[in-house]
Amino acid sequence: MTHQVNILVIRSVSLPFESRAKSKRHHRQETSNLIFFAVTIHVTGYPVSQAFRISPPWSTRFSYRITTMFEVERFLFDCKNALRQEPSQNSVCEVVARAVANPSAVLKALGEPGKGEIQTLYRAQDLTILNVIWTPWMTLLPHNHQMWAVICIYTGREDNIFWRRLPDGKSTKVEAAGAKALTAKDAVSLGQEIIHSVTNPIPRFTGAIHVYGGDFFGPVGRSEWDAETLLEQSCDGARMARRFEDANAVLRKT
Ligand SMILES: [Fe+2]
Repeated sequence: MTHQVNILVIRSVSLPFESRAKSKRHHRQETSNLIFFAVTIHVTGYPVSQAFRISPPWSTRFSYRITTMFEVERFLFDCKNALRQEPSQNSVCEVVARAVANPSAVLKALGEPGKGEIQTLYRAQDLTILNVIWTPWMTLLPHNHQMWAVICIYTGREDNIFWRRLPDGKSTKVEAAGAKALTAKDAVSLGQEIIHSVTNPIPRFTGAIHVYGGDFFGPVGRSEWDAETLLEQSCDGARMARRFEDANAVLRKT
């Protein structure tokens, strides 16, 4: 992976500066000069603003701050571009993991979650990018995607149970095979054959970016497994979306 660093802005200004120095007997106020300069660079496509502040005495006071912006359009472009350059989920996973490295920036860009829903950020034949908001305590039945997926969390928690078909080949039933709890900054890559169920186990909304290697809402022959019998039944993207409305209705009643 190539790291490209472009210095876009270099600014140096001198501003009036007011500082207070406390002593045991009195407060002293003094005005001096604050030297402030900011450098904005792009590292692998993401703008990273670095702000430096130097206040007197220059040798002893120095503050340094780094903030990473998240821009939805830029993120979508990077996902599409990564897939075009290397048509595998690994390339997209790198982009997604980098985006949620600063989850508060993602939350600021996408907005504070207010209800459980699936927001479609991008949809095409070869790629779907969703902002998935999990209602508190909500559980989605075991299901497959019939395409690879990358999941990353920017707020809250998402517990995944992974399932496998019974090896006897006679039944459509599944059994639990593993589990993984995801919290902010976590990103996982799921293969095309993965079956998983998802629970938001906390009393607030969980926000996650889900990326799929195909048209998530297209006729891909998706399945889900019944909550009680764990037997396979047909499912589609629209049906999964309605699960969120049901979860919101339950939440309103509580
Ligand atoms: Fe899923």
